[in-house]
Amino acid sequence: MIGNIIVMEPKEYAQWMAGGPSAPLPEAGKQLFASLGCSTCHRFDIQGRGPNLTAVYNKPVLLEDGRTVIADENYVRESILNPTAKIVNGFKPVMPTFQGLVSDEQLNALVAYVKSLGQAPAGTAGAQNQPAAPAGQPQTTQVQ
Ligand code: HEC
Repeated sequence: MIGNIIVMEPKEYAQWMAGGPSAPLPEAGKQLFASLGCSTCHRFDIQGRGPNLTAVYNKPVLLEDGRTVIADENYVRESILNPTAKIVNGFKPVMPTFQGLVSDEQLNALVAYVKSLGQAPAGTAGAQNQPAAPAGQPQTTQVQ
């Protein structure tokens, strides 16, 4: 016999595609975030050269050209592959492209990690560059 055939239930397969039941993708992304050097610019303690990515996911981001975009999955992807396409207001275009340096899986993991940082309920703050923070936002442990 040559090779093994792994038979999965459709549900199992879906879970596997989505990164497995225990969702290791954000965890893998976290490691990549450190090993690829993202964390040298995107800091969580002090203001780094790049924006703090806490709770940036699905939030409005003010761009240098005055537009506001929602930091959805496509935006995060584009930010990694083509960082100069949309420059965040107040930041310099110093982020290098990771196009060709990360595989699709790694990109998915990084996006999943950024998502996992943004678990604050919609409408709450935590990220910088937010035009207006709604009143009554919950406290985060992050240093502003
Ligand atoms: C040399 C410093 C530097 C490195 C390394 C870097 N970034 Fe950035 N990043 C920036 C800067 C500066 C910006 C804001 C300007 C812009 O939009 O390009 C940014 C923007 C972003 C944004 C959009 C953030 C927002 O608030 O809208 C994401 C997402 C992002 N980076 C992810 C990553 C990931 C993931 C990595 C590693 C694979 C990485 N960055 C590596 C400097 C860096």
